[in-house]
Amino acid sequence: MWHSVALLLSGFSALIHVSLQGPHQRNLLKNLLKDYNRMERPVGNDSHPLTVVFSLSLIQIMDVDEKNQVLTTNIWLRMSWFDHYLQWNQSEHPGVKNLRFTTDQVWTPDILLYNSADDDFDSTFKTNVLVNSSGYAEYLPPGIFMSTCNVDVRWFPFDIQRCELKFGSWTYDGWLLDLQMNEADISGYMANGEWDLVGVPGTRNEAFYDCCKEPYPDVTFVVTIRRRTLYYALNLLIPCVLLSSMTLLIFVLPADSGEKISLGITVLLSLTVFMLLVAEIMPATSDSVPLIGQYFASIMIIVGMSVIATVVVLQYHHHDPNGGNMPKWVQLVLLQWVAWFLRMKRPGENDDPERPPCAPHLRQDPSIGGGFGVGTGGLGGCSTAGIGDPQLQAILEEVRYMADRFREQDEAESVSDQWKFAGAVIDRLCLVAFSVFNIICTISILMSAPNFVEAISKDFV
Ligand SMILES: *[C@@H]1O[C@H](CO)[C@@H](O)[C@H](O)[C@H]1NC(C)=O
Ligand SMILES: *[C@@H]1O[C@H](CO)[C@@H](O)[C@H](O)[C@H]1NC(C)=O
Ligand SMILES: *[C@@H]1O[C@H](CO)[C@@H](O)[C@H](O)[C@H]1NC(C)=O
Repeated sequence: MWHSVALLLSGFSALIHVSLQGPHQRNLLKNLLKDYNRMERPVGNDSHPLTVVFSLSLIQIMDVDEKNQVLTTNIWLRMSWFDHYLQWNQSEHPGVKNLRFTTDQVWTPDILLYNSADDDFDSTFKTNVLVNSSGYAEYLPPGIFMSTCNVDVRWFPFDIQRCELKFGSWTYDGWLLDLQMNEADISGYMANGEWDLVGVPGTRNEAFYDCCKEPYPDVTFVVTIRRRTLYYALNLLIPCVLLSSMTLLIFVLPADSGEKISLGITVLLSLTVFMLLVAEIMPATSDSVPLIGQYFASIMIIVGMSVIATVVVLQYHHHDPNGGNMPKWVQLVLLQWVAWFLRMKRPGENDDPERPPCAPHLRQDPSIGGGFGVGTGGLGGCSTAGIGDPQLQAILEEVRYMADRFREQDEAESVSDQWKFAGAVIDRLCLVAFSVFNIICTISILMSAPNFVEAISKDFV
């Protein structure tokens, strides 16, 4: 019971309070806006400039469109100035500490984003202007700003972008509207998954034109953002490094497997797929080749050369033994120098290369030479005892023929072994050379990015 009475009373007192304040505010607004012209620059002396302090709060980076070179940000602008005609004596209007006006009612500076890329150039939401009794006006229009930004993808994905936001009065010169700057506020910034905010440094510039003596001030904030690399490392760099090391496997794969070329071509195709992914993100510019593009291109060149080298290796490996002997200089370079350099030994190289003209026991064992009387005279010129018998003569012919065939086969085999060994030497040489080339390429290209170390230390550790 008492509670409800108390509530009723407090409700009445609140009503009375409001009704007491009401007339003051109404009268004040009526008085202030009676002669107010919002086209009039609100200064006491028209020869004096009106100082407008400008600043912004960066809330969010919504998108960095590399292809169309547009930065989309969520920003609250902050402008403050003294309006000479919006002052009142607080003790004459008790309770009215400040007033709110719409932008249609009072003067506001016509400050615009110069490098806007928005459909309707000014994308700010027209909020109220807050004025206190000294005439101090504060205007904080929020907006989603689309601004042109020269996105330089030279060091992608280890890049830092600097996007300018240039604000200035569209019609007032510096003698009428003196634009001053306050540092940007990033306390309310919302972190972005793709970009790290490095800072939003601002500068006040004054431009002079030939036509006129007065300065044209502007305030330029530079949104400085660093790309977070983890995503691209995971989705582009690591696959590319893996594929490039696959290239080396081409040279380890035995030539007889018949898969050497297809492995090379498969790696080449996979690289092309990843390169298309990169090309999709990048602007179609020839100004600068992105770092990752360079890396992909060099790896592709390596793979292409590997395929060519593999063709040579296969050509050596499957060389027709009747196609002739290896040229002397190739023998010298490949089989001697390079093989020595790579510490490769030909299979059976330590054996005596010169075969004995005939089996030693045939030569030395008199029991065979005399008793069986096999005329091995033709076999490598090993003379044995002389023959009488025509049957034996025929057998001897057959044996000689067979021996000749075997010798021919052995010779052909040895020639083709030589070619095969040369192919293996080339394979090993390519393995070493391409490994070195690959490592040098990977390190030198990726590490040439100016903030490579910073990116690694911030994104991976
Ligand atoms: C306005 O300012 C100018 C320059 O400061 C001064 O010469 C002039 O007397 C001022 N006028 C008034 C009405 O105060
Ligand atoms: C404000 O109004 C009070 C009461 O009318 C008066 O005493 C005071 O001088 C005024 N102040 C100014 C700055 O005009
Ligand atoms: C109005 O705001 C300005 C800026 O904050 C301040 O300097 C001034 O004292 C304020 N006036 C009153 C009457 O509170």
